[in-house]
Amino acid sequence: MARQNWANRTTFILAAVGSAVGLGNAWRFPGLIAQHGGGAFLIAYLLAMLVMGIPLLMMEIAIGRRMRTGAPGCLRGMNRKLEPIGWASTTNAFFIVSYYAVVFAWVILMAVVSFRFAGMTGAPDAADQASGLFTEMIKMGDITDFDTISTPVFLALIAAWFLIYACIRNGAQSVSKVVKYTVFLPIICLLLLAVRGFTMDGAMEGIAKLFIPDVSAFADAGLWIDAIGQVFYSLSVMMAIMFAYGSYLDRSSNVAADVMIIAFSDMAVSVLAGIVMFTTMYGCGMEGSFTPSGVSTAFFVYPVAIVNFTSLGWLNAVFGFLFYFCLCTLAIDSAFSIVEGISTGVADKFRLDHRKTTLTICLVAGVVSLVFITSAGLNWLDILDNWINQFNLIIIGICECIAVGWCFNTRKVLEEVNLNTKKFRVPAFWFLGTVRFVAPVLLTGFLGWNLYHLFVENKGNYGGYPLYALVVAGWAVTVLVLISGFLIRPLINYLKKYKGYVEPDQTWDSADLLGDRQEEELLH
Ligand code: PFF
Repeated sequence: MARQNWANRTTFILAAVGSAVGLGNAWRFPGLIAQHGGGAFLIAYLLAMLVMGIPLLMMEIAIGRRMRTGAPGCLRGMNRKLEPIGWASTTNAFFIVSYYAVVFAWVILMAVVSFRFAGMTGAPDAADQASGLFTEMIKMGDITDFDTISTPVFLALIAAWFLIYACIRNGAQSVSKVVKYTVFLPIICLLLLAVRGFTMDGAMEGIAKLFIPDVSAFADAGLWIDAIGQVFYSLSVMMAIMFAYGSYLDRSSNVAADVMIIAFSDMAVSVLAGIVMFTTMYGCGMEGSFTPSGVSTAFFVYPVAIVNFTSLGWLNAVFGFLFYFCLCTLAIDSAFSIVEGISTGVADKFRLDHRKTTLTICLVAGVVSLVFITSAGLNWLDILDNWINQFNLIIIGICECIAVGWCFNTRKVLEEVNLNTKKFRVPAFWFLGTVRFVAPVLLTGFLGWNLYHLFVENKGNYGGYPLYALVVAGWAVTVLVLISGFLIRPLINYLKKYKGYVEPDQTWDSADLLGDRQEEELLH
């Protein structure tokens, strides 16, 4: 069967922007700006995007386009021994989506119950009620409270998985149809919220804080670390997604130019979310409440702002709905992109039906996600999310850069990036410099910093959770992710021996011919 392609160039760009633009833009980016000297963080972010984010995004998409397969196959094609790195990012992606779907469910639920904001007026009671709404909804409890599941959250979770599956059941084809909406709707919502923000007293003070850099903040190493981390997370690299999305690209596409559009659109949406947050928080006199924690921002801090938006309860409820609906539309295309990444990797490797694979992944990850909707769930989600961001993604990043930079002729990847470029050719010093030196060095520094914080400053503890919980949801998951590629080998050997399975084995050079052959097939 011929491989699917994106309907056209715009669709691919929209799908990639949809994946990149997610909850991270809306609920983490503004908090980081507030923490790190306003405009100073914007400058650091821009630099981090140029030196790290953009080349890595180009690398993944170009490799995907060339190899026409998911992450494991892409890395195997460059050098057989590299396949486990592709599996590490795929397995890690599985864990990410298992809790991201729950966050998606929470925002769906909050959108549904946003009418309750209408009845909350009059400080300080309203503020307490507003920030307590989420805790009440999810029945938040202790780390061992597995026996309670909130029915509304359960229903919202089913809706979340249903929506994710519905958007990708026919792979790139169905993604092509939905991204038009999932990319533009949140932008419209953010613009509406920005209009309200701008009309608040004190909004201009917020805008000044957002854009004027506090130069002294540049001296803080934490600013640079957070900028790199945010770029890395925001562009959805190292999550198996961009290999998969690249693999559905036409050979005639222009990776270099498209990536510039994707990266700058992602940054633009982050800045727009920054404008919304800064104008509203300053407008509501809540400038001291900024936090880089996404969950706190969206579920505890922002609700307080909502009930202070206007003196009309119903209008506040409308704004509340707009905000959570915006988060829903931000989350959905990131969530389905990650399932698509996993499913492309697995289906290509095991020559499975794409649709059935997607359904199975949704069902299995759906069952895993049930853990996070128990009363104990938020605690476990917090640990897993922390380990994934602080360790797993970074380790996979280091491995992937070393793999492409040092275990393969990186210039071939650069040629692939520049295959159809016209005016704008990516210079070798930039691409090779990042993939071989800058990214692995910065990421290793980043990992060292995180380990230092965990072990030296916090004596191995995170968030005051018991050690067994950190071992289960943190360290064990990290180890499992990293060795998953080796665990899968016996299965592959078994299938080969007894089930007549033939392992796909295209290499970088043979993949090119494969591409031509498939295009011919499509023509005839
Ligand atoms: N780029 C996404 C964001 O900023 O929210 C990161 C992401 C997270 C993508 C989770 C996909 C995903 F499932």
